[in-house]
Amino acid sequence: MPLLHRVDDEIEVLRIETPEEIARWRAGFTGAYQTIFSDEPYFERIYPNEAEGRWNKLTSLTETTTLVAVRNGSQVVGFGIGHPLRHKADVARQLAGLIPVPHTYYFAELGVMHDFRTRGLGRQLVQDRLNLVDKSTYSHIILRVAASKNPSYDMYRSMGFEDMGVYMEVQAMRIDGRVTTDRRLFLCCVISQIIR
Ligand SMILES: CC(C)(COP(=O)(O)OP(=O)(O)OC[C@H]1O[C@@H](n2cnc3c(N)ncnc32)[C@H](O)[C@@H]1OP(=O)(O)O)[C@@H](O)C(=O)NCCC(=O)NCCS
Repeated sequence: MPLLHRVDDEIEVLRIETPEEIARWRAGFTGAYQTIFSDEPYFERIYPNEAEGRWNKLTSLTETTTLVAVRNGSQVVGFGIGHPLRHKADVARQLAGLIPVPHTYYFAELGVMHDFRTRGLGRQLVQDRLNLVDKSTYSHIILRVAASKNPSYDMYRSMGFEDMGVYMEVQAMRIDGRVTTDRRLFLCCVISQIIR
C-alpha cells in the first residue's frame, strides 16, 4: 500500500501514484466526491461519470499530488489533491500578474466525509500536501474556497493562507436541478513563510 502515514487506529493517508493505485481507489474517490460536494456549502449534483472523470483528469496531470484518507484499508473518507497552477487554465488566466503562475501550485480538491470531520483530518490533508510540494520549483500555493460561511476559510487562514481579495463565480448544477453560480474566494500563501 502506498502509505504516507497512519492518522489513528482506523485511518491512514495514502499517496496515489501508480496506474494500479489510481484504478484501485477510483470508485472510492468517486463516491466520496459526490457525497461531499452534494452537501454544504456547494450542494452540487455530480454524476458518477463526472466524479470519475475528475479523478482520471487530476491523477493524469504531471506533478500531481493525490492523497486519499482511507478507513480500515477500504473506505475512502477524505481526499486532498493538488497540481501545478498551469494545469488550471481559467484560474491561471485570472490570477496572472498577481502571482507567478509557473511557480504556483494549486490545491484543487479537499474533502472529508461528514462523519469523519472535526478530528483534524482536513488540516492533516492540507499539511501533507504542503509537505509534498516541490519547494525548489514552487514558491506560492493558491486555492479557492466557497465565499459562504464554512469551516474551510477559517482553517486555511489559521494555517497561514491569505485572502487575496479576488473571487470567481463558478457555475454548477445543484442538487435541486437548477444551474446557478456561487462565489469562490482565492486564498494564497508564500511557501517559505509557512514552512521553515
Ligand atoms: C473543510 C473540511 C475539509 C474540513 O475537514 P475536517 O476534517 O473537519 O477538518 P479539521 O478537523 O482538520 O478541522 C479544521 C478546523 O476547522 C474547524 N471546523 C471544522 N468543521 C467545523 C464546523 N462545522 N464548525 C466550526 N468549525 C469547524 C475545526 O475545529 C478545526 O479548527 P482548529 O484546527 O482550529 O481546531 C470539511 O469540512 C469538508 O470536507 N467540507 C466540504 C468540502 C469543502 O468545503 N472543501 C474545502 C474547499 S475545496
